[in-house]
Amino acid sequence: MNTEKLSRRWFLAAITYFVIGVGFGVYMGASGNHALFTVHAHINLLGWASMGLTGLLYRAFPGAAASRLAPWHFWLYQLAVPVMLLAVALVYSGMKGASPVAGASSVVVLVSVLLFWWAVISARDSGAMRQGGS
Ligand code: HEM
Ligand code: HEM
Repeated sequence: MNTEKLSRRWFLAAITYFVIGVGFGVYMGASGNHALFTVHAHINLLGWASMGLTGLLYRAFPGAAASRLAPWHFWLYQLAVPVMLLAVALVYSGMKGASPVAGASSVVVLVSVLLFWWAVISARDSGAMRQGGS
């Protein structure tokens, strides 16, 4: 995929999670109810921080953005993260039955991260890295 397009997709997702994560944080602070602070933390860290960093990393490794793995990484991550966050929120709210969903979706997140790792590792010498002379 075009590096710029892919990177911006990750940035758009990151900014969306930033709004939700900060909104959740303000709600927790205002209400004094911190029961779901782990969900807040992971909205911000898996969402805002990791997605923003991913968008930047694809710019550093354009060969990885061009890889067939890049769309799989994007969609698996984008589908599994909200499912996992919702399931974890339910578990922390007392619905223990959501545990397997949290577990399964976290494995999908892991798979998508492994695809990202492999896309970067296998393309590390192509694109901007080579242009940069390294
Ligand atoms: C205005 C924005 C934010 C507000 C009002 C806010 C508020 C809070 C509150 C009330 C807690 C619970 C603290 C506790 O009960 O121990 C918390 C925890 C946490 N927040 Fe935020 N937050 C904000 C933004 C962020 C951002 C941008 C990130 C990450 C990039 C972040 C990461 C975390 C983490 C990792 C924890 C868990 C800390 C721990 O393990 O004790 N927060 N936040
Ligand atoms: C699929 C991915 C992930 C899973 C399944 C996961 C799972 C967990 C679990 C089970 C805890 C302990 C919660 C508790 O004490 O009740 C935790 C805490 C934490 N994780 Fe993650 N994590 C993931 C990704 C990440 C990432 C990408 C970051 C940072 C960039 C991160 C940062 C933290 C931090 C700061 C805490 C301590 C604050 C808290 O309890 O929420 N995690 N994580």
